[in-house]
Amino acid sequence: MAGRFISFEGIDGSGKSTQARRLAQALSDLGHSVVLTREPGGSAGAEEIRRLVLEGETDRWSAETEILLFTAARRDHLEKTIRPALARGDIVISDRFADSTRIFQGITRGDLTQTVDSLHALMIGVEPDLTILIDLDPAEGLARATARAGKEMRFEDMGLAFQTLARAGFLDLAKRHDRFRVIDGARIPDLVAEDVLGAALAGAMAR
Ligand code: ADP
Ligand code: TYD
Repeated sequence: MAGRFISFEGIDGSGKSTQARRLAQALSDLGHSVVLTREPGGSAGAEEIRRLVLEGETDRWSAETEILLFTAARRDHLEKTIRPALARGDIVISDRFADSTRIFQGITRGDLTQTVDSLHALMIGVEPDLTILIDLDPAEGLARATARAGKEMRFEDMGLAFQTLARAGFLDLAKRHDRFRVIDGARIPDLVAEDVLGAALAGAMAR
């Protein structure tokens, strides 16, 4: 498991943060050094960018400007948090990574896939070893996300059609890349967590 990079993806409210936290706890209980982090954010500079992109009106930024902002945040996160942790041999668990940009900026508001992929190749260039996609019906996800509503609602405010496109996009991405494991998020957290830990441990054995 040493030096492994695991990301969690899914629509808003799918239960990623809950499951990322639980996996981090389970792996540290097994004696591993774990760094639990998140995007946008995960380093001081990236957390500042987080506020810019998640708060305010839905039309505050175009999809193109968002690609630049999320990628800038990711570059700082990679330099300051992810690379040093992997170099120490820690397991890095990130609540979202580049697949979120591929989906939320790349396909939900027109096809910007090429732009996202080019900028990723130029500025980031790494993928997780394992990506856990927590799959959930978008109406259920929005209901959960709205129930805990705070200031960071810019993407939730884009609505059900937006989250529906995002869910389909994530499932399609998962089909095309071996690093994905798709886990049904419409169950009690304990059952979801069991599958998540199973996927993380199976991935490590296969290496
Ligand atoms: P995400 O990070 O994907 O937005 P969270 O883990 O923050 O999701 O969960 C969103 C909300 O749904 C939280 O209030 C959380 O307590 C709740 N929640 C998480 N997992 C489940 C689950 N399996 N079933 C029901 N509610 C859940
Ligand atoms: P997150 O804090 O994971 O929110 P949630 O817990 O509601 O899923 O992510 C905040 C929002 O940022 C989420 O709506 C998705 C969006 N996002 C992008 O649009 N592009 C990105 O590259 C990332 C990392 C997040």
